[in-house]
Amino acid sequence: MTRTEKLAASLEKRYGKRVAAAGSGGGPGGRNARDRQGGKPKNVRHTIGRLMVYVLQEKARLAGALVCVLISTFSMLAASYMLRPIINTYIVPLDGTRGDPAGLFRALLVMLSVYMAGIVSTYLQSRLLMRIGQNSLQRMREDLFSHMQELPVRFYDGNTRGDLMSRFTNDIDNVGNMLSSTLISVFTAGLTLAGTLALMLYTNVILTFVTILVIPLMLKAVTKIAQTSGKYYSLQQSALGALNGYVEESITGQKVIKVFNHEEITKEEFNILNEKLKTNQIKAQFFGGIMGPVMNCSTQVTYTLTAVVGGILCVLRGFDIGGLTVFLNYSRQFGRPINEIAMTMTSVFSALAGAERVFAVMDAEPETPDDADAYVPQPMRGDVVMEHVSFGYNEDHMVLKDISLYAHPGQKIAFVGSTGAGKTTVMNLLPRFYDVQQGTITIDGVEIRHYQRDELRKNIAMVLQESHLFTGTIMENIRYGRLDATDEEVIEAAKTASADAFIRHLPMGYQTVIDGDGSNLSQGQRQLLNIARASVSRAPVLILDEATSSVDTRTEQLINEGMHHLMDSRTTFVIAHRLSTVRDANAIMVLEHGEIIERGTHEDLLKMQGRYYELYTGKAELD
Ligand SMILES: Nc1ncnc2c1ncn2[C@@H]1O[C@H](COP(=O)(O)OP(=O)(O)OP(=O)(O)O)[C@@H](O)[C@H]1O
Ligand SMILES: [Mg+2]
Repeated sequence: MTRTEKLAASLEKRYGKRVAAAGSGGGPGGRNARDRQGGKPKNVRHTIGRLMVYVLQEKARLAGALVCVLISTFSMLAASYMLRPIINTYIVPLDGTRGDPAGLFRALLVMLSVYMAGIVSTYLQSRLLMRIGQNSLQRMREDLFSHMQELPVRFYDGNTRGDLMSRFTNDIDNVGNMLSSTLISVFTAGLTLAGTLALMLYTNVILTFVTILVIPLMLKAVTKIAQTSGKYYSLQQSALGALNGYVEESITGQKVIKVFNHEEITKEEFNILNEKLKTNQIKAQFFGGIMGPVMNCSTQVTYTLTAVVGGILCVLRGFDIGGLTVFLNYSRQFGRPINEIAMTMTSVFSALAGAERVFAVMDAEPETPDDADAYVPQPMRGDVVMEHVSFGYNEDHMVLKDISLYAHPGQKIAFVGSTGAGKTTVMNLLPRFYDVQQGTITIDGVEIRHYQRDELRKNIAMVLQESHLFTGTIMENIRYGRLDATDEEVIEAAKTASADAFIRHLPMGYQTVIDGDGSNLSQGQRQLLNIARASVSRAPVLILDEATSSVDTRTEQLINEGMHHLMDSRTTFVIAHRLSTVRDANAIMVLEHGEIIERGTHEDLLKMQGRYYELYTGKAELD
C-alpha cells in the first residue's frame, strides 16, 4: 500500500460516515443504512403533499401562473401551426395561383403578435413562480427555525452542528430550485408534448406514427443516461459534503494544525478529497452532458425519416407543403420536452430528499408541552429541594444516583468532585434541560415539572461551563440576561462581576462589538461577561458552573465579594475545581461517580478527613 492509498483509506474511515450523511440522511430521523444510499427520497407522495401545503398558500398567484402557462404553451403551439395556412394561402397557394406578399405580411404580423403573447406570458409565469417559490421557502425556513427553538437540549446534544446547518442551506436551496424552476419546466414540457402530439395527429396521422416509432428507443436512452448521471450526481454531492466538512474542520482547527505541524498532511488529505470530488464531478457532468447530443442525434434521425416519408406523401398522396413544413418543425421539437423532463428528474429527487431532511427536523419531538394548569410562581423564593434524584442521559446508564439535597434562599451550595462526576448534569436538571427519571425536584414546594417552563427558566440565572456570547455590543450581551435592564443596571451588573474595569479599558467601552463568540476577548473576559449577564437578571436561583475557572485568583476574590451582597436573597449553586472558591459555602457536596459521598461545611469536611480533605490538602490528584 502506498502512502497515498493509506491516507485515502484513513480518510474513508474518518469521513465515510460524514460522506454518507452529506449525501442524504443522517440526522434525527435518518440514521439507517437505507438512508445513506444517495439522494433518494423515501416517501415521495407524502413529501410532495407536505411541500404542497406551503405552495398552496399562494392560491391567487398559483392560479395566475397556471393561466400564464396555458397561454404561453398554447400560443407557442398555435404560432408554429400558423405557418401551414400561411404557406398554403400566401406563399404556394393550393389552388395554383401566385403568392400574395401583402397578405403574407399581414399574416406574419398576426403570427408575430401570437408569439409576443407567448413571450409575455412566459415572462409573467416565471416571475409569479419565482415569487411563489421564494415565499414558500421563506415560510419553510420560518417553520424550521421556530421549531428548532422549541427542540430540547437533548436534540442538540445528539446532532452535529454541520448537519443541521446543511439542512438550512443545501437542502432548502435544493427545494427552492425545484419549486421555482424544475416543477414548472416539467409542467410546461408535459403540456407542450401533449399539444405537439395533438397537432401532429391533426396534421398527418402516418407521419405521426413515423415520429412516434423512435420514442421508445429515445425513452430508453434517456432513462439510462438519467439514471447513470443521477448516480454520479449523488456521489458528487457526497464528495462535496466530505470536502466541505474537511475545510470547515481545518478552519476551526487551524491553530491546532499549526501547533502540531500538520499543514503538509492536511494539504495532502485535502488533495485526496479534492481529487475524488473532481472525478465524480467529471462523470456527473459527462453523463449530464451526453444527454443533449444523444437527443440531437435521435431527433435528426426522426427528422430525416419524416422528411423522406413526408416527401413521398407530398408527391404521391397530395400532402400539402405547408403541412409538411410545420410537421418537420414538430418532429424537431418533439424530443425536447422528453429531454427536459428526464434532465430535471435528478434534481427533483434530490430536492425531495432535501425536503425530507428538513421535515425530519420539523418532526423531531419538541419539549413536552406544559400542563394546562401549569404553575406560575408568584415571585419565586428559590427554595430548592432534590429528593432521591436519579438520572441518565440514556436509560441504561445512570449518571446521577440518589441525589438528595436542599438549598434555602440566601444559601450557597457548592459542588466539588473530579471531572465527569456529574456536577454539570445535576445543574442541567434544575432548568429542565433534561427531566429526571427517578425522584423529585421541587422549588418552593412545587415540583418543577408542574411549572410553566418559561417561568421556571426566567427564575434561574445560569453561567454555563462553556461561555457563549452573541454578535453584538457588550452592552447588548449583558442585557441579554434581562431585556428591560437600564444602562445603569447593566453597568452595575458588570461592576458586580468585576468586568467593568476591563470594559472601560476597551477603546469603545460598552459599545465594543463582540464577534465570533467573543474571539476578540480573552477567555477570562468572556467569563466575566457571562457572569455579568447572569447578575443582571434578578432570578432568585443562580447557578455558576466553573464560572471563574479562567479568571485570576485576585479577580475571583473580587467577584466573590461582589456577588456576596447579590446572593443575600438568592439561592446559589457553585461548581468549582478551585476549592478556595467554595470555602464559604453553607454546604459543600462532594460528588463522585454521580453520588454525593460527603457533605457539610468546609470545616466539617476537613474534620472528616475524607475525600474533600484529600482534595483540599492536595493528597489526591486534582483533575
Ligand atoms: N449530553 C450528554 N449525553 C450523554 N452523556 C453525557 C452528556 N453530558 C455528559 N455526559 C456524561 O455524564 C457524565 C457526567 O458529566 P458532567 O458533565 O455532569 O460532569 P462534570 O462533573 O460536570 O465534569 P467537569 O468537571 O469535567 O465539568 C460524564 O460521564 C459524561 O460522559
Ligand atoms: Mg461540568
